[in-house]
Amino acid sequence: MVHEQVHISRTPGDVAANVASVLLERLAQAQTEGRVASVVLTGGSLAREVHRAVAEHADSGTVDWGRVDFWWGDERFVPADDGDRNAGQAWEDMLSRLPVDPARVHAMPAADDSYEDLDAAAWSHGEQLHDWVAAREPWFDVLMLGIGPDGHCASLFPGHPAVASEADVVPVHDSPKPPPRRISFGLGTLMRARHVMFAAAGADKAAAVAASVAGGDVHAAPSAGPRGTETTGWYVDEAAAEQAQVRR
Ligand code: 6PG
Repeated sequence: MVHEQVHISRTPGDVAANVASVLLERLAQAQTEGRVASVVLTGGSLAREVHRAVAEHADSGTVDWGRVDFWWGDERFVPADDGDRNAGQAWEDMLSRLPVDPARVHAMPAADDSYEDLDAAAWSHGEQLHDWVAAREPWFDVLMLGIGPDGHCASLFPGHPAVASEADVVPVHDSPKPPPRRISFGLGTLMRARHVMFAAAGADKAAAVAASVAGGDVHAAPSAGPRGTETTGWYVDEAAAEQAQVRR
């Protein structure tokens, strides 16, 4: 049975700690079941807190970090050394502090010379993803997502044509939130994880969290779309949970 639940913590720090510990459990579980574990990371301030919390558990021994594949649900299409890159931030906060296998870190292309063209970069990353997923079903163990106050998730924004794209990896032109050029997993790809973990904190997220939990029109609120094949969890603080219809 597919399980959906809102997990409410008191503070944003508590949310991050909870998400980090559930993520570690899920990765360890995947490895116990004999798989190379996989996680799709996201950006944003709360995700950064989660990453730092995970890095603190580097030595816990429950996860074999060399046998974890890392992907991103979206990326800002800026040069590789730009501090805005989700991948760069994740390296700084977490990956550089864990014994990961660099070959299993699948960062999205950066806007450097070889990938000047956004459409070509998204296409090329899609090819890389297709090679990797070949025999996997579902594709990912865990998919992490933030939620914007406007209801966006990954780099899929309300009313933006990228939401309707059937591509697995989508070039996002004219993002309403800077930077304007981004790459995002398409909505279809965001449906291909065992466990979807949304994390959000703050009163400005309350309406968007409610829309995400309720489901419904993904063009109005893209975060209403992604669901895990086994579980979907919203990890929120009390302020962000305020408008969601939840069983407490
Ligand atoms: C971006 C941001 C954005 C972020 C959410 C949640 O790409 O512009 O990363 O998508 O993930 O808005 O961010 P916070 O955790 O900072 O609220």
